[in-house]
Amino acid sequence: EQEIAETKSSLANQSYTSYMLDAAYKGGALEILTAVLSCAWSYQMIGEHHEKIPGVLEHPLFGEWVAGYSSKGYRESTEEIIDILNLADQLKYEQKHGIPHNLLKGMTLGMIFQKSSTRTRVSFEAGMYQLGGHALFLSSKELQIGRGEPVQDTARVLSRYINGIMIRTFEQSEVENLAEYGNIPIINGLTDFSHPCQVLADLQTVREYKNKLDGLKMCYIGDGNNMANSLTVGCLKVGMDVTLACPEGYHPDKRVLNFAAAYPNFKLVSSPKEAAADADVLFTDVWASMGQEGEAEKRRIAFKGYQINDDIMSVAKSDAMVMHCLPAHREEEITAKVLEQHANEIFDEAENRLHAQKAVMVRLMAAEN
Ligand code: CP
Ligand code: NVA
Repeated sequence: EQEIAETKSSLANQSYTSYMLDAAYKGGALEILTAVLSCAWSYQMIGEHHEKIPGVLEHPLFGEWVAGYSSKGYRESTEEIIDILNLADQLKYEQKHGIPHNLLKGMTLGMIFQKSSTRTRVSFEAGMYQLGGHALFLSSKELQIGRGEPVQDTARVLSRYINGIMIRTFEQSEVENLAEYGNIPIINGLTDFSHPCQVLADLQTVREYKNKLDGLKMCYIGDGNNMANSLTVGCLKVGMDVTLACPEGYHPDKRVLNFAAAYPNFKLVSSPKEAAADADVLFTDVWASMGQEGEAEKRRIAFKGYQINDDIMSVAKSDAMVMHCLPAHREEEITAKVLEQHANEIFDEAENRLHAQKAVMVRLMAAEN
């Protein structure tokens, strides 16, 4: 018991998953025993109350938020999110220690892009390669989709050649159409409505820095856009307190607000300072998303004051993290100073796109084939 108590107190200062993975790979009996005990302990720390909210698992939004669709009915419940984060940590460990993990050997991922991308494209492509597979970049301009071929036909054709599709597009319904007509897993690489793969990477990063998720206070300052929608759902699912500060007229999607209404630990306010008070993690995103370039000037006026800066940081916890999915517009939603002070977290967040998405691909594609 004393040994367990000592292990627990030493674990308080490190990521439990890297501890467990070290133990598992070293293979010592004592290490494995303490790893198993700490696993049960940590799961309890992450798990608990949010799993018990009635009706959450049946909520229709689960069908709309998910990072990926597959015929095995994967829906990203709290347990599935935690499972993805654990697998992401494992894959990160393996990649950094040169341990092969060819879990998708011989498989191909098609990546359809109707919008620009740096992180999503490169992390999916590199991730697929690291898993022993291959990724195909399919610009919608070059596909027949760009000349009007319906997505339903594209889905049925691609299903015959490849093992999964990642799509970045405008309408959420386009992702769902692909999922309905194709019979291979479909992964959401961002729509106007949601950006769930980003949020999985965000949660992985927060857990790395804070060693837990449940009970942390997050705030999001800015546009009620795809990031605000997915962060709200994802952070609530893992038990975080969520406060959003958005200006009037730029609130998150109504379906997300309906979903969040079931959670007493959700708040939507107009004051950024009120949202940031005592926060453990602060998030923001651009004022004008892809496709809204024409509204940039109008939005610059509407979002004045919705910025993460020194003043906002002064009311958050002294060890608060700052997260940004990137690309960032310095001196708009975040000052260059705060961004640089929190660059470690923000670029770890960008790195974790690779690991979290590898976990999503393994869970969806390896299980199917
Ligand atoms: N954060 C993110 O999705 O970045 P990209 O637009 O570069 O893919
Ligand atoms: N809200 C941003 C996110 C970019 C990763 C956009 O949709 O452009």
